[in-house]
Amino acid sequence: MSQHKIQRKPFVVANWKMNKLAHQVHEFLDEVMPPLAQVDQVEAGIAAQDIFLADMVRQTADSPLQVVAENVHWEDYGAYTGETSPRALADIGVRYVLVGHFERRKFFNETDATVNLKVNAALRNGLKPIIDIDEDMRAYAQFMDAEPAVAQVAAALAGVAVDQVRNVTIAYEPTWAIGSGEAASADQAQKAAHLIRQTLAHLYSPVIAEKIRILYGGSVTVDNARSIMGQPDIDGVLVGKAALHPKAFLDLVDIAQTTIE
Ligand code: 13P
Repeated sequence: MSQHKIQRKPFVVANWKMNKLAHQVHEFLDEVMPPLAQVDQVEAGIAAQDIFLADMVRQTADSPLQVVAENVHWEDYGAYTGETSPRALADIGVRYVLVGHFERRKFFNETDATVNLKVNAALRNGLKPIIDIDEDMRAYAQFMDAEPAVAQVAAALAGVAVDQVRNVTIAYEPTWAIGSGEAASADQAQKAAHLIRQTLAHLYSPVIAEKIRILYGGSVTVDNARSIMGQPDIDGVLVGKAALHPKAFLDLVDIAQTTIE
């Protein structure tokens, strides 16, 4: 493993999207918490619907498992019926939030501008955003050595200060790979993650860029996770379908462990 990668704790995040019922949430956590209590070299998190978050925080109070919100509003509080306040998420003990997931961009008209507002709102309220980037990066490939800036990354981080960006995680999720059964190859994922890291170096500094975790998401399975997480710029995975089962989620955490041993 490279020296640089040692600075970044691998992060395995399940994104349950809109797929669980309350009793299933409870049973899943019951099953994964005992084995996760033995894991300290990998961080594990679960993104779930808002209605479950407070119960999940309570149930995981003595566990290293992180509870992750799937979305957040860009204002701290106020007259925004149906939205979720970042201040309220932090208040109930949520620490991470997904921002700008492809499905939010596609079905709920999220734009780079609203993603940026949400990233800043999350950080302002003590939440750590996991920023989803779904930009097609093929056009950058030819500029690998020319300090390109991945536009979505730069847009999402506008106004984010150096001392705050350490709390950011970036997740590269190509649209064509999400839910398709067709993951990016390890090489494609690494190239994109490298471009993102170069962008972070350009926006902040190479030293800071080396501290920020970059995840890959899109049709990750227990079969392809090892080669993807073994890449030098990839620090974990964001997993939909394959992480709906406790055993598979635990297997992914195990695989993440093997990439640092
Ligand atoms: P799948 O793992 O089901 O492709 O979903 C990926 C995803 O959207 C994670 O945020």
